[in-house]
Amino acid sequence: MTVHTVTDHEGCIHALRQPDLRQSLYDAAALMMEHVLVNLHGEAHRQRRTVESSVFRKDVFLAYEKSILPRTLDETLAPYEAAGGGDLVDIGYRIMMNLTVDFAGIDRPLRTAEETGELLALLKDFSLAPALGQSLEADVEPRKQRIRDAMARFDERFLKPSLSRRRALLADHAAGRIAREALPSDVLMALVMGQDRLQMTEPQLVQEGIFYMLAGAHTTIHSLTHAVHEILEWAAANPGDAAELRANPFFVQRCVYESVRLHPSSPVAKRRALAELTLADGAVVAAGDEVVVDLRTANRSEALFGPAPDRFDPHRPIAKGPLPYGLSMGHGMHACLGRNLAIGVEPKPGADPALHQYGVVPLIVAALLKRGITRDPADTPTKDETITRITWSRYPVRFRPETALL
Ligand code: HEM
Repeated sequence: MTVHTVTDHEGCIHALRQPDLRQSLYDAAALMMEHVLVNLHGEAHRQRRTVESSVFRKDVFLAYEKSILPRTLDETLAPYEAAGGGDLVDIGYRIMMNLTVDFAGIDRPLRTAEETGELLALLKDFSLAPALGQSLEADVEPRKQRIRDAMARFDERFLKPSLSRRRALLADHAAGRIAREALPSDVLMALVMGQDRLQMTEPQLVQEGIFYMLAGAHTTIHSLTHAVHEILEWAAANPGDAAELRANPFFVQRCVYESVRLHPSSPVAKRRALAELTLADGAVVAAGDEVVVDLRTANRSEALFGPAPDRFDPHRPIAKGPLPYGLSMGHGMHACLGRNLAIGVEPKPGADPALHQYGVVPLIVAALLKRGITRDPADTPTKDETITRITWSRYPVRFRPETALL
């Protein structure tokens, strides 16, 4: 098997659009991801994506941003503010877990701190799976066993009850006892309603529920930590420019785009050829070959993103064509379904700041900047060194409202 690597922006887009290239990034994580949306191909993928897309609506995102997120932020940040600081990765998990389980359709009947803690612990175990293929450890079996145990616990404690409740609600609706509007608007409900078409087994539903917790929370938390880090370093080096954070209501979102460009959640996408095909540069790929789509390198093209493309510069002019965050939200059939929820929509000239959809990452970053987030001078952040993707595993911060950038 030959491995072909594509590094230029156009070539990556071309590869991600090829119907004969199927997902292969998660092959090593099959125990948890074999049957999830991002690993499906062809008609099975199209049908599942169509059913799930019904939950990813602009009105649902806007309502979340404007009414639920501000309360979640106040509640989650209050204890950290009172303590004067904390670990940003931990803060991110606590904020995003609520959002992501609500979208996935995982009920939390008790709504206690213990229940939240249990889900957080599960989420941390699940987050070991997508990176299994990038692990630098010699023996990954202990990681795999932790994942299997967490899957079984998640099924018993959370998925089964959430599924039963939705099936009962659908039966009530079919019998005319409740209106359509009374059904929850989440992925699990959409799957229960689409079951005639999709014919999913229970183990497949467990995998999909877990995938949504990961797709929603894990990527977002790491984007959040990278963005805060980049903004704090940049503001310290460019104190004059940092005034724009206050002056321009859309500037935090611009900074997040720039950070997302530099730090895609996975540096590469991977695909395997189902049949012979030709890449944009003319290279012929045989059936069974692997294609590595190097998003990180494509996002750092000097021709598209200007001089010093490795540098975080939210003022950089960007050529017409690429998105300001590059290919970090994917492209083609697997393009991120949660993009607008995570990073909002690009503001059009004359956009109304009060009605604009900013995305949860920019809104969380803004909330942290307003509270005067700074790096903890007494405690150094650490990166996860066990995988090839770069993520912060701990990022100690302090809150100093008197020096807030926003
Ligand atoms: C900043 C945060 C996020 C980043 C960087 C991100 C990035 C990505 C990327 C690169 C892909 C494509 C993977 C591939 O081609 O192999 C993807 C797919 C996906 N993302 Fe996101 N994502 C983010 C947030 C979210 C959120 C908040 C949700 C949902 C609540 C979500 C749901 C999904 C789903 C369902 C897919 C699979 C789509 C499919 O296979 O058809 N993502 N994401």
